[in-house]
Amino acid sequence: MSLEKIIDKKNAELSKIIDQKKVPEHVAIIMDGNGRWATKKGLPRRFGHNKGVSVLKEILKASKKLGCKVLTVYAFSTENWTRPSKEVDFLINLFSEVLRNEIEEIHKESIKIKFIGDLNPFPETLKNLICSSESLTKNNNTFLLNVCLNYGGRQEIVKVARELALKSTSGEIKPSEVNEELFSSELLTQGIKDPELLIRTSGEKRISNFLLWQLAYSEIYISEVLWPDFNELEFLKAIIDYQSRNRRFGGIESLPNESYEDSHCSSYQK
Ligand code: FPP
Repeated sequence: MSLEKIIDKKNAELSKIIDQKKVPEHVAIIMDGNGRWATKKGLPRRFGHNKGVSVLKEILKASKKLGCKVLTVYAFSTENWTRPSKEVDFLINLFSEVLRNEIEEIHKESIKIKFIGDLNPFPETLKNLICSSESLTKNNNTFLLNVCLNYGGRQEIVKVARELALKSTSGEIKPSEVNEELFSSELLTQGIKDPELLIRTSGEKRISNFLLWQLAYSEIYISEVLWPDFNELEFLKAIIDYQSRNRRFGGIESLPNESYEDSHCSSYQK
């Protein structure tokens, strides 16, 4: 059997284990490990980023096929500017190239693409491509792909705080009206449900300034696999792991036959 057929068979087997009623609507991904993948192979880091793009395409298809509705990926953080300028330039060109080559396909698949972050520092060519891609796909409603570019969670929160402070100073809102709902409505992800699942590849166990507000109750799945080696199979493993979690949102597990006091006491009296 060819390797492709074995992988297809494994994917099909894993897909059967997945509970269709518990598929996360919104998955966020920190695509980490491109550089290390390339270095391990004795290649320049750009090879890792190039391979990373094809993995992103595979995961976009896989998540859509599975029934997810939103995928948010961290493509360039506010901290990534500190990389050598050659790598920064390469990444910026790569984003433009991906948009040029893939936007028709994305549109055909009825995917809406949205960019999240401060796009001001990017060159006009990329900004124009972003603008035309968002406008071409704005009415697509099958799936939403959010690409975080020059994004930082703290910066986003500070921006919201500043906007609310301005509204308060101008009398548009009262300080007492500031609550979680109002705050969320000013975020760059306004109107989008928070991710139920965050996947980070390459074994790093950090959030790295990604969606700090939105990830408050997300389940976190760390994959040891470097992003360029990540694939549909690894994605399905993450979903299966997510489905085994007991999401309590800070509450307690429902105890159908016990009152709170009963369960509380028994754990102390044993
Ligand atoms: C992290 O690996 C990856 C990035 C900083 C870039 C990811 C970008 C893509 C996959 C392209 C996506 C393109 C579009 C248009 C969405 P790293 O370089 O931090 O790896 P390392 O931790 O091993 O150094």
